[in-house]
Amino acid sequence: MTILLLGSGGREHAFAWKMIQSPLCDKLFVAPGNAGTAAIATNVNVSITDFDAIKTFVLAEKVEMVVVGPEDPLVKGIYDFFLNDEKLSHIPVIGPSKIGAQLEGSKEFAKEFLIKHKIPTAAYDSFTAETVEKGCEFLATLQPPYVLKADGLAAGKGVLIIYDLAEAKEELRNMLVHQKFGAASAKVVIEEFLDGIELSCFVLTDGKSYKILPTAKDYKRIGEGDTGLNTGGMGAVSPVPYVDAVLMEKIETRIVKPTIEGFQKDGIAYKGFVFIGLINVNNEPIVIEYNVRMGDPETEVVVPRLKTDLVELFLAVANEKLDEMTLEVDERSATTVMVVSGGYPENYEKGKIISGLEKITDSIVFHAGTKLDNGSVVTNGGRVLAVTSYGNDFQEAIKKSYQNIDKLDFDKMNFRKDIGNDLL
Ligand code: AMP
Ligand code: GLY
Repeated sequence: MTILLLGSGGREHAFAWKMIQSPLCDKLFVAPGNAGTAAIATNVNVSITDFDAIKTFVLAEKVEMVVVGPEDPLVKGIYDFFLNDEKLSHIPVIGPSKIGAQLEGSKEFAKEFLIKHKIPTAAYDSFTAETVEKGCEFLATLQPPYVLKADGLAAGKGVLIIYDLAEAKEELRNMLVHQKFGAASAKVVIEEFLDGIELSCFVLTDGKSYKILPTAKDYKRIGEGDTGLNTGGMGAVSPVPYVDAVLMEKIETRIVKPTIEGFQKDGIAYKGFVFIGLINVNNEPIVIEYNVRMGDPETEVVVPRLKTDLVELFLAVANEKLDEMTLEVDERSATTVMVVSGGYPENYEKGKIISGLEKITDSIVFHAGTKLDNGSVVTNGGRVLAVTSYGNDFQEAIKKSYQNIDKLDFDKMNFRKDIGNDLL
């Protein structure tokens, strides 16, 4: 079949890498893709949120399935756009409906869903510019630190954790009244702070049944020892060694099952990934967020561990036959280290020539922010390459990733040297 994949990051290169291994995939287009996807599929210069342009392309190329990588097109309703178009409605879109995507698109929507379906989550209340003074009063009733979340999409920057009450009140005003995060902070969720270890659970669902994918942990901060600014993620490890069967059972019965049942009870069409962000408080998993897509760079360690044909899984999702599939997982560990542009996550330069890619052995390099320029692979984003390796344990895998990174070079290249160290 002919498939169109939307996105341009390491997550999409990892999806593409896996999808082209499927005998079911005859032709893969990636829009817009990067230099990595260009080497294994056909990149298409179409904006992922220009649905009319996507429609024109899909009809012209007889695309038979659309797989959505990032959240933006999902929150903007690409699933419904296809479903409601007479010429497109037969083409499956892998991703939730517009209302389902609100689990990521609106923190308040997610909180209401969690409470309604009795899924463990932090206590909260939400406020707007009209109720900002009530919000300040609410803050005064809580113990520090204070957790403020912009309701809408804010490119991963919309969550503030503040230790001082006066500062928390000021930031609440900044968000609500001065629109610190634009329209995304027109509403703010104030949440009880949870003290514990963070972990993520990835689920693929057809809206009725589900498969829990391998666990993974990412490293969010730019600096070693988890210091400095937040990034999209600087590395990842799968599986997460401290997640045991007892914890996984709690996550499944208390969180995953009621989430999928919640979709059915609420009539939410959901055929795609659910990425559940959790905090483990004294061995009790509590939800802090939903994302309606796979994580990046978690995909770069989760997908390489899937032995099952990914296109077959997507077809089963589209046909609501996921219950008939068995998920086979590689026993080995996988790690990835993100190689980033100097300055990221703040200002950085693009267009730097990347050297050493041909010297890589025993690792898979997923391109994140790259493009082809006159035959050279050049940097084209903050996160540039994800170097993924397998090992009998994560220590063996991470060693390979670092050995291969030593062969790579571009001007002001940066990466974290401590991925996995906290798990030792
Ligand atoms: P989110 O975008 O909701 O995942 O929040 C971003 C980050 O803020 C999370 O990865 C956590 O580190 C932290 N965080 C979010 N909510 C809470 C909470 N209720 N308690 C403690 N930390 C939180
Ligand atoms: N790595 C975190 C995310 O994809 O949101």
